[in-house]
Amino acid sequence: MSILNDDLRKDLVEAARHARQWAYVPYSHYPVGAALLSDSGKIYDGVNVENAAYPTTICAERVAVFKAVSEGERGFTAIAIVTRNGGMPCGACRQVMAEFNHKMTVIIADDKGQIVKETSLEKLLPDAFLPADLK
Ligand code: THU
Repeated sequence: MSILNDDLRKDLVEAARHARQWAYVPYSHYPVGAALLSDSGKIYDGVNVENAAYPTTICAERVAVFKAVSEGERGFTAIAIVTRNGGMPCGACRQVMAEFNHKMTVIIADDKGQIVKETSLEKLLPDAFLPADLK
């Protein structure tokens, strides 16, 4: 289990900021970079990947989660999300992140790497439908 400290916080924001250059955004021109910290200490990044069939676009946060899970990770401590204006994660991404840790820290930063908000997923998605609800 990784503890989030200032160094890690900075590493996450920088990873999201660096990944953001690879966003494929010919339609919205709104690049998003995400960086997810796994319990094993590894950072998985992601970017939004858009499509001419607009609804098939995928957000940066979900790309990061799916990359990590497809490599065997299941536990996550924190995610940093970088946009030009400190945009918040969409509802679909909140639900996907909650599947793996409803309490993870969510760091929102702008394209200069300035943290504009730090919160928890629990606050962003209260009363979530979680795996335990299916037991
Ligand atoms: N987007 C993300 O990547 N993450 C979010 O949580 C919000 C929206 C992307 C989707 C689309 O490519 C662009 O931002 C504009 O909606």
